[in-house]
Amino acid sequence: MPERERVPRHAATETSVSEQTGVLISLEGGDGCGKSTQAALLCERLAACGLPVGPSSDQGAVIREPGGTAAGEAIRDVLLHGPQTLAPWAEALLYAAARAELVERVLLPELRAGRVLILDRFVDSSLAYQGFARGLGIDAVLAVNQPGLRGLLPDLTIVLDVDPLVGLARTGGAPDRIEAEGLDLQQRVAAGFAVVARRFPERVRLIDGSRDIDIVAAAVVAAALEAVADVGLRLGG
Ligand code: TYD
Repeated sequence: MPERERVPRHAATETSVSEQTGVLISLEGGDGCGKSTQAALLCERLAACGLPVGPSSDQGAVIREPGGTAAGEAIRDVLLHGPQTLAPWAEALLYAAARAELVERVLLPELRAGRVLILDRFVDSSLAYQGFARGLGIDAVLAVNQPGLRGLLPDLTIVLDVDPLVGLARTGGAPDRIEAEGLDLQQRVAAGFAVVARRFPERVRLIDGSRDIDIVAAAVVAAALEAVADVGLRLGG
């Protein structure tokens, strides 16, 4: 792995992460878009290429949001299984708080150690769900996330594009607080991700997630390997 210093190409502010040498890839999309399945497959396939995937303490693992730290998992519980109604800004700030914890304790140290990290959701979920679908504003939600992001944005964000009706039908088991809000919210979320993709074309790729799992996986892996190559990691190195 190259030892060169790298300022992240997509840094919101160029502070604190200048020694990052790893790669950060997030998977995004509406509920039931298949992103968790694809994130797990992506980890397996990148690891099979010899890349140092996942946190060093939990090699090969996907990092999920909200969560990924003790405090983050506790916040996740409030967000997904807590009080039925939460003020929109309370919701946005709780997601941002869980994220700040993850950035500080996991993402920055692991990226500095040169790891390739696969995230099951990151800040773009907040932009699409809270910023667009809840109507708080993409810029306003990005602004409250900014201090906790410490300048970090993904090298690549893959949005799995799936019809919200199909996505909701795919979600199994008891719906969490957000899924329980139904189709109307999911349609706004899909529109939100489309806006986010147009807003950040240099790092966000839309991939049609309605196709067969293996076809989607091939597209996801190809995009991820391009991002890894861009960052300058040697495959199998
Ligand atoms: P999760 O169980 O990860 O759902 P999924 O398997 O569909 O990803 O639950 C995360 C939920 O939280 C999901 O409904 C999206 C929502 N969410 C936000 O609204 N804002 C955010 O910033 C994040 C990270 C998630």
